[in-house]
Amino acid sequence: MRAPTITIRGFRVFKGLMDSAGQRAMLAELREIVAAAPLFSPDTPYGKPMSVRMTSAGKYGWTSDRSGYRYADRHPGGGAWPAIPAPVLAIWRELVSDARDPDCCLINFYGEGARMGMHQDRDEADFTWPVLSVSLGDEGLFRIGNQARGGKTESIWLQSGDVVVMGGEARLTYHGVDRIKFGSSSLLPKGGRINLTCRVVE
Ligand code: SIN
Ligand code: MN
Repeated sequence: MRAPTITIRGFRVFKGLMDSAGQRAMLAELREIVAAAPLFSPDTPYGKPMSVRMTSAGKYGWTSDRSGYRYADRHPGGGAWPAIPAPVLAIWRELVSDARDPDCCLINFYGEGARMGMHQDRDEADFTWPVLSVSLGDEGLFRIGNQARGGKTESIWLQSGDVVVMGGEARLTYHGVDRIKFGSSSLLPKGGRINLTCRVVE
């Protein structure tokens, strides 16, 4: 079993898990997903659109609107979500489990100025399954809080190819992305950060 580079409050961080060829191959798969299921900017329940644009792969996609956060079995455009790419499943099977694949791979795109406020991932039925996060493109400042809102936090820069497993004590810990260093990576020619989060939903 591969050991994490660092563990912060139960978040197991695998720095540089994907090499640059692996990152480019994964990006090619993601471009196909976005062509079939375009990125959209969901509204939050508070009425403000999220600064991150997103789409999903898998049986379910994560979405949000004025009535709340939820998983949906269709893209807002009406089509089914594309399949989760094989290289993403390979990382899940190595770091999480080969007994069950995730139901959802949420694809978040952070353009210049995009961020994600502190939140818990709690729309899933079974919190014994970790959430797996894969970062590609520009660096993002990932903030880790506590199991309740507020309190002291710790931050780490996530770079292209880094993978984080949020399980156990970390599964319901507040986390967010304060900012990205736009243009810090050459993976995406026009800049930006992609984060994938794989979840067991049901
Ligand atoms: C998320 O918490 O859904 C995204 C985390 C990240 O972008 O690194
Ligand atoms: Mn999250």
